[in-house]
Amino acid sequence: MDRYKLLITGGNPLRGETSVYGGKNTSVAVLPAILLCDEPCTVENLPDIEDVHVMRDMFMLLGAQVKYDAKRRSMTVDPRPVTAFHVSYQYTQRMRASYYLWGALLGRCGQCEVGYPGGCAIGNRPFEQHVKGLRALGAQVDDYGGMIYAKGTLVGADVFFDRITVGGTINVMLAAARAHGNTTIHNAAREPHIVDLANFLNSMGGRVRGAGTDTIRIRGVDYMHGSRYSVIPDQIETGTLMIAAAATHGDVTIRGCIPTHMEALTAKLLEMGVQVTDTDDAIRVRSERPHRAVNLKTQEYPGFPTDLQQPMSAMLTCAQGDSIVMETIFENRFKHLNEMQRMGAKVRIVEQTAIIEGVPDLYGAPVTATDLRAGAALVIAGLMAKGTTEIYEPGFIERGYEHIEEKLRSLGAEISRVDLD
Ligand code: EPZ
Repeated sequence: MDRYKLLITGGNPLRGETSVYGGKNTSVAVLPAILLCDEPCTVENLPDIEDVHVMRDMFMLLGAQVKYDAKRRSMTVDPRPVTAFHVSYQYTQRMRASYYLWGALLGRCGQCEVGYPGGCAIGNRPFEQHVKGLRALGAQVDDYGGMIYAKGTLVGADVFFDRITVGGTINVMLAAARAHGNTTIHNAAREPHIVDLANFLNSMGGRVRGAGTDTIRIRGVDYMHGSRYSVIPDQIETGTLMIAAAATHGDVTIRGCIPTHMEALTAKLLEMGVQVTDTDDAIRVRSERPHRAVNLKTQEYPGFPTDLQQPMSAMLTCAQGDSIVMETIFENRFKHLNEMQRMGAKVRIVEQTAIIEGVPDLYGAPVTATDLRAGAALVIAGLMAKGTTEIYEPGFIERGYEHIEEKLRSLGAEISRVDLD
């Protein structure tokens, strides 16, 4: 139980300018790749969030030399002292991305003993595709006692994923980067952070081609030199801020983002009657008129991101008309809607589909965050609502959004943190 709650008094349109920095999901994919390197590396533009801190802790546990400056968003890691390959569940359960250590440690030293990953409770989240990919590269992978034991000299191979998986694609890219020979990943995920990881691997002397398409070709290399690399901005934080601006009928410019990564969301907001204009590295979101209801179906990139389904659902609760939201990626990603019903939202959930009947207003209420993006959705609902909303378990939100309260306050939100007595 978090020892504090968030208090939001809604009704203020968000106005002004803000910036986004490195992405959570790209940072936790790029950082483990340093273990593949033969020299120190520096990664910059990192977000100051819990998941990056956990990565730092795991590097230090493995024996790496780490210099981390949260304010300067920079982490320098010297992996040369790393000989360990055991990371206990105490560390790995703190985030989903701890399972990237499988591919990174196999690529580095041909073995790993790593506890099961944690991550948001939004579905079953199995990892059989990761195991299938690592076995295809020649690793012996055993899974017992809540630990993954993997060992083997990796040899390039063809990897065919039975379904598109971001994590599986990343894990196999990490393992293949130092394998002997060529690997081709078929049915690969295409997310921007897959491309970011490929660019980082190539900046160290890796040979990765085709990232961003459904076929990625990797030639294993014998040596990787040091690199200084800046991760791409957070696609999901950018989208969450865009939705918050629109949902509060505000006028917000978000700087430091990549508008081309936001096209699926931008199209939906335009469909709802929101004004969205962008330049090379900034997006401006304005909304004066009531929002039209829309239908939404989450899909792998470049489709509408599942991570923005929850924030968008909050905005749809007060659209004019009924919206149909289909969540095709995770089985259990509507828990935030149950919480919003306390605020006056009218929602029916039938399996993987939510039917949201637009209401004139939401009203403040005490609600509980159940996962990272559900928390973000509840913040948006609180910003929209008349009256005061209390959000319990806000720690989830800190995992993926850097200093969210300060950022929203700078845009005119009435949001504060209150210690629970
Ligand atoms: C990554 O999760 C992200 N997490 C998620 O963001 C994001 O929602 C997801 O990709 C989809 O974009 C990180 O990057 C740390 P998947 P991941 O493997 O890798 C099933 C957030 O809020 N599957 O693409 O776990 C899986 O259960 C988080 O930032 C298998 O069945 O996603 C899911 O239903 C939440 N077997 C679907 O595929 C497998 O072996 C997509 O999963 C692997 C996945």
